[in-house]
Amino acid sequence: MTEIRKAFFKAAKPRKKDRDILDIILQERPDLKGQNPRCAGEGNYGYAFIFNHEVVKAPKELNCYGDDEIVEAFQKEIKIQQLLAAQNLPVPHVTCTGQKAFFFGMQKINGLSLKDALSGVYVKLSKRQRKDIIHGIASFKAALEKTDLGALLPPEDDFALSPEELLLAREGLSAPVVQKILAAQAPDFSLALQKFLDDYPSRQPGIIHGDLHGGNILFDPKTGKISAFLDFGRVKRTIIPDAEFLHLQECYDPAFALAVQSAYQKITGKDVQAGSYLCLKALDMLAARTGIARREKAEDAENILKAAAEGLVSKYHYGAYRTALMKPSP
Ligand SMILES: Nc1ncnc2c1ncn2[C@@H]1O[C@H](COP(=O)(O)OP(=O)(O)O)[C@@H](O)[C@H]1O
Ligand SMILES: [Mg+2]
Repeated sequence: MTEIRKAFFKAAKPRKKDRDILDIILQERPDLKGQNPRCAGEGNYGYAFIFNHEVVKAPKELNCYGDDEIVEAFQKEIKIQQLLAAQNLPVPHVTCTGQKAFFFGMQKINGLSLKDALSGVYVKLSKRQRKDIIHGIASFKAALEKTDLGALLPPEDDFALSPEELLLAREGLSAPVVQKILAAQAPDFSLALQKFLDDYPSRQPGIIHGDLHGGNILFDPKTGKISAFLDFGRVKRTIIPDAEFLHLQECYDPAFALAVQSAYQKITGKDVQAGSYLCLKALDMLAARTGIARREKAEDAENILKAAAEGLVSKYHYGAYRTALMKPSP
């Protein structure tokens, strides 16, 4: 157990199980006492306590600390946020980090979540404001890629296919049963998968926010602009940076997401293939199934590949993929 974790358990000891991480934060930040913070939703593993002028993020439960992955992710999030704020990106400045416990404070930014802003219930966005928002997201993405997050991001890429998986995917894709199903149900998907496989070795990695949705972007109705980007727990370097755009499409209406993609392409001159993440997932599955199929009897192998091919057209949101394929007008 690392020193900081030992210290955390010690600090946590007097507390009843779920009687709150807030106590611990207040031990270290007594100046925040009496503010009655609002707790903004629960993300994957954390709480965000909204005080008068600061927001403090902390892990959800003490037993999170049994999980090294969560600890690492949390520490990574803090460092990334510090680095981005230091580079003048629209990211809240980190105000404090817990000494005995894992938490960090940041400046509270004015604004409502972009999700709410876009819903039209709280504000009515003008065309100009909508355009600014689209441009704001695209430039943030472009700027994020230019920052050197270097050592903060592990070199392993959980999106990457190993050479062995690539080979299996290639075999799986060329299996007659898979070809037949794809040709009948999803011919353009089949072509895209082939192209993805062919281009794979020359792919360049890029940095993504990893959770870029309206809940993690603040819009300030007073200025009519984006006031901050939040939540850097899933920033990563990946060989499929286009994944961010598919994610955006899932979070917004496709027209909005495609406008962001188009603005990003204009700013960076990069060609985005938002469908590539889907291709990856599809081939990933095909590789896994092919691996299984190899160990099965011949007649079962056929069935497994058939199931995989059907999975490619149904499970991996073929609808979303089609939307991603529609190129925005330049
Ligand atoms: N610096 C901040 N200023 C204002 N609101 C914030 C700030 N940080 C977080 N919030 C609010 O808290 C919510 C949760 O924070 P977030 O960092 O997204 O955590 P989670 O990992 O739980 O999604 C955000 O959606 C936002 O509404
Ligand atoms: Mg969030």
